[in-house]
Order: sequence, then structure tokens, then C-alpha cells
Amino acid sequence: MVEISRGLRDVTLTETRLSMIDGMAGKLVIAGFTLEELAPKATHEEVIYLLWYDHLPNKTELEAFRQSFIENRHLPATTMTVLRAAAERKLPPMDALRMGVDTLSLVDPEIENTSTEADLRRAVRLLGRFPTIVASYWRLTQGQEPIAPSTTLGHAANFLYMLDGKEPNPAAVRGLETYLNTVIDHGMNNSTFTARSIASTRSDMVSAIVGAIGSLKGPLHGGAPGPAMDMVFEIRQNAATSDKSVAQEAKIWIDNALARKERLMGFGHRVYRVRDPRADVLGGAAEQLFAQTGDMQLYTDARAIEDVILQALEEYKPGRSIKTNVEFYTALVLHGVGLDSRIFSSVFAISRAGGWVAHILEQYAEDELIRPAAAYSGEYDRKWVPLAKRA
Ligand code: SDX
Repeated sequence: MVEISRGLRDVTLTETRLSMIDGMAGKLVIAGFTLEELAPKATHEEVIYLLWYDHLPNKTELEAFRQSFIENRHLPATTMTVLRAAAERKLPPMDALRMGVDTLSLVDPEIENTSTEADLRRAVRLLGRFPTIVASYWRLTQGQEPIAPSTTLGHAANFLYMLDGKEPNPAAVRGLETYLNTVIDHGMNNSTFTARSIASTRSDMVSAIVGAIGSLKGPLHGGAPGPAMDMVFEIRQNAATSDKSVAQEAKIWIDNALARKERLMGFGHRVYRVRDPRADVLGGAAEQLFAQTGDMQLYTDARAIEDVILQALEEYKPGRSIKTNVEFYTALVLHGVGLDSRIFSSVFAISRAGGWVAHILEQYAEDELIRPAAAYSGEYDRKWVPLAKRA
């Protein structure tokens, strides 16, 4: 009898130097650094460089790396045309990102060159443009013209600048950098697996990344932070218009959702059986942000809602240990940074693309085709029946 590992649960595909997840202990190591040691301190360019080159950049390396992103922010006219067409159809931001990134093959001057050096240049050409695609599309959906990228601001700050044309608030930049650093890589999650699976056929980097964007869009993966934020807002709204507390309204909301067999976004994880360590790092970043922006009540309410959800999930699935995952506090941090929940998944992609690139390069180096099996459960010995004789 063939043993099937549905969803490739507990299957180890390969080795990687990029990140280590300890699901039982709730630990995450990113290229040798604990998450807590790296995420709140580094700029996002430093963490991308760390994943791609396996060491933190020195001053000269960092300045050159930062400058290479600055020089690769403008979108080709075709990309902007595609984004305008998508905005007219009001397509989801993740669809627009996927379509926009696909057109970036047009700005690849060395499309046949598959050397590692060429792939690293290609990666900068792609990642430099992710924030421009996301910010431009968001503005187009709001009936506004895109803002030209900054020629001086860093990766995270430039993204915030392109959303409203203002010099971003340093607290918001720090909050966004911490978020981007926190979610850049996370072992063999589905979108990373997708990127590696495509790269394992020796296909190109754009194809692998476009496939990964498709995967990340899914609500079981990167599509969760938006609905998690909407859930918090809906519960608070109910409490504001009733005589019940936030916790009481949360209990009502959650019991109804679970009764409908719905998944509560921001909770549960395939690997973590305790609280996702990223929830702690992002919870701390959110608290700092809200303390500075003065909306501590939202943070306090969110924590109260989280407590009610954890209790409800323990009763709903005793012993399944469904704990808070990264997305619940992602929602709070990105809201605190001033982003609309409809682009939360796209901002996740801006970060995870750095991890996808590093894994794609690892897969090219391993050069092993990924091709699992499936056990046949269909019929045998069927006989051909001419069309005229079929019932
Ligand atoms: C990310 O893989 C990664 O590393 C992903 C990620 C990354 O950085 O790349 O960490 C990012 O994707 C985080 C997860 C974001 N998704 C959500 O928050 C969506 C809600 N979460 C669930 O859909 C679920 O917890 C998963 C998909 C995340 C994990 O599912 P598993 O491990 O496959 O667990 P399961 O589906 O077997 O669930 C066990 C049971 C099920 O009930 P039964 O089928 O046994 O009756 O618990 C239930 C589930 O229905 N359950 C939930 C739940 N999570 C699990 N029920 C309600 N709400 C939830 N959140």
C-alpha cells in the first residue's frame, strides 16, 4: 500500500541555508540570525543582501546594493499600460502584481544569460520594481496618477513615498522595514516551493517568481492579513454600536464564523504548533507604532480579540494547538504604517520576493528536477466505444 503524504506534510525536500523554522519551539532563524536579532535592526536592503550573499554587506557593498535598487524602479511603458487595463477592470492587486511582473521580461537586456551573476542582476531589476508596481496600481485603483519613484529614499521608504508623494514618517518606515525583514523567508512555504519547483526545470527567474505570486495570493497562504484586519474592524464596529464589549462581540463573531466552518484568518499554521515567533516581533512593532500614532485602543482591542479567538479555537479543535500566526499582527503593523488592507498581500510579496530569489538560486545550484508521485486510483481495462454507440 503506497503511503501518501497529502499536501507533502512533513516531507523534507532539500537543505537550505536561508531559514530554519522550529515549529515546536516557535523559533525562526534567518541566514544565521534569530528573527529577533535581525528584523527590528536591519534595513530591508541589508536582509535581502544577507540572503543573496550569505553575509551582511559592509558600507561600500550596502551603498552599491541600495543604489542598484534605486536605478531599477521605473516601469516600462508596457507595464504601466497593463496596470491601467487591470485598474479599469478593478482586478485584485495581486493579479495586477502578477501581470506587471510578467511584463518585466521586456526590460531584460540579457534574457539568454542564465549565469548566477546575470540572475543576480535580473533579481535587482525585478525587486526594484515590485514596490513601484504595487504603489502605482494602488493609486490607479483610487483614480490617481502614479508617483515617480524617489531617486534617494531606501526600498521601504520609497514604497511609502510612492503611495502619497509625502516624505514618509520615520516610525512608519521602521515599522515597514521590520515587517519586510520578518516575512522575507520562511522555509518551504507554498510560494517558495512553487518558485523552486518551476526553477527546478531550469526555467527562468521571471517564470518562477510569477508562479510564486500566484501561490501567495491564496487565502490559506499570503491572502490572510487583509481579511484578518477586516475581522478586527468588524468586531470593533459591532462593539461600538452595541452595549457589548469588544471581547463579547468577538465571541459572537467568532462562534458564528466557526459554526459556518470558516477559517479564522491569522491563526493556525502547518509548521508552528505554538505562537508564530513573527507574531511576537510584529506585535512589538505594532505596539511601538500605535504608541507613536496614538491609536493604542486599536492595539488593545486586537489583543483582546486574539485572546477570545485562541480560547474559541482551543474549544473548537481541542489539542490541535491552532495559535496566532504571522498574519494577525501583519495586519496591525501594515494598518499602523497607513496601508489599506487590500494591498497587504502585495506588500507581503514585495518582501517574500527576496526570499524567492535566494531559493531559486539555490535550486539552480542543486539542479534537481522536483517531481513527486501520485498513486493512481482510477479504473483499468476500459474498452473503446464509438461515439454513435455511447449512451
Ligand atoms: C502563511 O507555510 C508557511 O510558512 C506560510 C507562512 C509563510 O510565511 O510563508 O507562514 C504564511 O501562510 C501563514 C498562514 C496564513 N493563513 C491563514 O491564516 C489562514 C487560516 N489558517 C488555516 O487555513 C490553516 O491554519 C493553515 C492553512 C494555515 C494551516 O493548515 P493545516 O496545517 O493544513 O492545518 P489543517 O488545515 O489540517 O487544520 C487542522 C484543523 C482543520 O479542521 P479539520 O479539517 O481537521 O476538521 O484545524 C482547523 C482546520 O479546519 N483549522 C482552523 C484554522 N486553522 C486550522 N479552523 C478555523 N480557523 C483556522 N484558522
